[in-house]
Amino acid sequence: MAQEDVFKKIVSHCKEYGFVFPSSEIYDGLGAVYDYGQMGVELKNNIKKYWWHSMTLLHENVVGIDSAIFMHPTIWKASGHVDAFNDPLIDNKDSKKRYRADVLIEEHLAKLDEKIEKEVEKAAKRFGNSFDEKMFRETNPRILEITRNRDEIHARFTKALNETNLEELRQIIIDAEIVCPISGTRNWTEVRQFNLMFSTEMGSTSEGSMKVYLRPETAQGIFVNFLNVQKTGRMKIPFGIAQIGKAFRNEIVARQFIFRMREFEQMEMQFFITPGEEMKWFNYWKQLRMQWHQALGFGAEKYRFHDHEKLAHYANAATDIEFEMPFGFKEVEGIHSRTDFDLSQHEKYSGKKMQYFDPELNKSYTPYVIETSIGVDRMFLSVISAAYCEEPLEDGETRVVLKIPAVLAPVKLAVLPLVKKDGLSEKAREIMNQLKFSFACQYDEKDSIGRRYRRQDAIGTPFCVTVDHQTLEDGTVTIRERDSMQQKRVHIDEVENEISQKTDMKTLLKQLSH
Ligand code: GAP
Repeated sequence: MAQEDVFKKIVSHCKEYGFVFPSSEIYDGLGAVYDYGQMGVELKNNIKKYWWHSMTLLHENVVGIDSAIFMHPTIWKASGHVDAFNDPLIDNKDSKKRYRADVLIEEHLAKLDEKIEKEVEKAAKRFGNSFDEKMFRETNPRILEITRNRDEIHARFTKALNETNLEELRQIIIDAEIVCPISGTRNWTEVRQFNLMFSTEMGSTSEGSMKVYLRPETAQGIFVNFLNVQKTGRMKIPFGIAQIGKAFRNEIVARQFIFRMREFEQMEMQFFITPGEEMKWFNYWKQLRMQWHQALGFGAEKYRFHDHEKLAHYANAATDIEFEMPFGFKEVEGIHSRTDFDLSQHEKYSGKKMQYFDPELNKSYTPYVIETSIGVDRMFLSVISAAYCEEPLEDGETRVVLKIPAVLAPVKLAVLPLVKKDGLSEKAREIMNQLKFSFACQYDEKDSIGRRYRRQDAIGTPFCVTVDHQTLEDGTVTIRERDSMQQKRVHIDEVENEISQKTDMKTLLKQLSH
């Protein structure tokens, strides 16, 4: 099945089974804003719990906070967001559609890369075992031509981004003959900068109101609380502050479902360090964060690092962790070395010292910061995308199953009486009432057992406990495992232990050895 079709199916599956709904749907929706349904909120909460516990339980020197969404507007001046948090936009005059100029060029570069890979694949098929890929890439005239063109565009693009040269961005689009995907024409406007922050008014007009912003990142709430936490928590450098919360960006090109939203959630951690140690800690967090992703078991080949060519206004090194979504490798998390930029700026704008006295070095300094920043919604999308499977069954039917890691699954266990009579429902209820204190359980007695298994597969429930006539005789039930569909018989008293071993967050956290 084409990846585009897979993605469409994932989006409709999310809606059909209560994971994600378009916001304000009865009013035809609100662009790039989504609501999480009864299944989605559980999955999202489990993702957040996995992150929060991995940060705050596994690191004695990482603590959490929950800062307000509204902050003093000068914070955004100090952080550079008022002046520099912009996207370069370009309009197609025929379709009247607006695009991010950098995204148009990046997509064009990705197409050239794809062309190269297709040429290599074709040649590999043609030459069979005698194919020398390295030699082919280095000598084939067509590949050399595409690569030269690609490298030239890439070099101009990087330079234009670094110099914020909007005219040159437009010229690259013209020279590369990039067309509007809707109109198919090259009738482009100038490139203009567009600030991504939402603003509103605080206070009544009679007493004068103040323009405030909805935060575009949670990180600034951490920076401005750096000394509060350091002093009250008696924290010693190196230490980290973690936060989960909503962020808002007026994204112009808001596509791809929950990948790019206008209201989204971030999980961010700022790690405060001694200046000069940034590369050591940058590499440390890079490895740790990749390990966190890979511990979910979707396969190491689904992830890659992508080092930034254009650094944000605050960073001196940055990399993304990308995940293979149905629409290609995309950023899920950013790891940035932010230097002392933010703390120094807040010191300058607030007039308050933002320094740390280091008792070991016996001097004060402005700490440097390594940041790890991951979007909850993108993480959610990566889990759902990797988990979504359509599997043919022996009876000729197909089942749709979400192979969500058991620890993250919204429902851990379904309790199902085989039939609705002979006292099986009562027995199943009794079991459910014991287990509901330990797991998110669902009780279901409607329809055939096969259909009920399908329903649980579709929401990713890792275990189904079935109560049958034998249960009444010897107190045993069957446990059906979602992925293998294998069943085994166990005594009712063993169910809790059996399932908690596989669904407990501890099991996952223990894989993250620090
Ligand atoms: N504090 C640094 C920061 O905000 P970022 O790379 O702009 O860095 C971090 O964002 C993460 O937040 C991204 O890796 C992504 O997962 C998520 N994110 C950013 N913009 C988003 C959007 N419009 N919709 C959903 N997630 C977004």
